[in-house]
Amino acid sequence: MEPRKLGQSKVRISPIIMGTWQAGKKNWANIDDAEIVKGIRAAVDAGITTIDTAEIYGNGYSEQRVAEAIAAIRDQVVLLTKVFSNHLKYDAVLEACDRSLKNLQTDYLDLYQIHWPTGSWGYELVPIEETMSALNKLKEDGKIRAIGVSNFSAAQIAEASKYGQIDTVQPPYSLFWRAIEKDLQPYCVENNIAILSYSSLAQGFLTGKFGADHQFAEGDHRSKNRLYCNPENYARVQTAIKKLRPIATAKNCSLAQLALAWLIQQPQTSAIVGARNAEQAIANAETMKITLSESELAEIDCIGRIVTDELDDDPSLWDWAD
Ligand SMILES: NC(=O)c1ccc[n+]([C@@H]2O[C@H](COP(=O)([O-])OP(=O)(O)OC[C@H]3O[C@@H](n4cnc5c(N)ncnc54)[C@H](OP(=O)(O)O)[C@@H]3O)[C@@H](O)[C@H]2O)c1
Repeated sequence: MEPRKLGQSKVRISPIIMGTWQAGKKNWANIDDAEIVKGIRAAVDAGITTIDTAEIYGNGYSEQRVAEAIAAIRDQVVLLTKVFSNHLKYDAVLEACDRSLKNLQTDYLDLYQIHWPTGSWGYELVPIEETMSALNKLKEDGKIRAIGVSNFSAAQIAEASKYGQIDTVQPPYSLFWRAIEKDLQPYCVENNIAILSYSSLAQGFLTGKFGADHQFAEGDHRSKNRLYCNPENYARVQTAIKKLRPIATAKNCSLAQLALAWLIQQPQTSAIVGARNAEQAIANAETMKITLSESELAEIDCIGRIVTDELDDDPSLWDWAD
């Protein structure tokens, strides 16, 4: 599959992107460092040229693991990272970017994203004009090649776009989580903004490996995923998985690959997928060889709606209430 344009920028990305929220044992997934470094390297070798990380993932730990994996091949890789909600004031953005550059052992980022809209997670409100002004400065200085946002609504992107060029948005989006299709996706199509979906496998629920009685280990935040912690949603997930299985078999691919193939054929959409090891990363890369026909897409779409038609409009994937 050909590389894709990142909005109106000159950056070109792979349709499948390696996610690194789970990178390294300081993160929630508790994956061994060597395993994840091998996984990132295997992803690139298998054609996933683009890697997504964030300063908040293990407080720089994930960025450092990415640096370790790509040290000898920086020029072959497209690096995306994010500035967190506590660093949105002008000077704080510049400092955060310098820290990420150091963690990633590079002198430029291909895409720098505002991780959450201002005021998220209880942090102080910063006018978007101020944050955008800092991002524009970083772009002028050649430290970043493009600006993106994450967890923004269409209205929030429209506001930010008054102060600079937004080339991407990173929302939760998968066959089982489609809130963005109402407003955000049409806005992105109209304004040529690339959608980089996160939790593209619904955090693993689309792999079909979690059965009806599955229990997550302590600290695994998938237990807070609204697809799982609401028993009615979870029963519908199981029903949909059962119906998707024969289609995957007929396409000679896994359920995960089927779900990702569907996703990267949606308008403007490339998919960020987290992987815990090389095997998963290589399997995810293979998705880029699968094409689904219009009738296959429609059939899969219809099955996904067994889950999504019953969800409310809240785009948030998790219920952190207790
Ligand atoms: N912007 C944001 O606010 C935000 C939020 C969340 C995530 N993200 C980004 O998006 C990335 C992906 O999201 P995510 O990690 O939440 O969800 P995801 O990509 O839907 O799921 C990733 C998990 O699915 C399992 N998996 C992956 N590939 C597999 C395969 N081929 N076969 C079987 N299992 C497989 C692995 O978990 P197990 O093996 O443990 O089951 C892996 O950790 C993150 O790494 C991060 O870069 C961004």
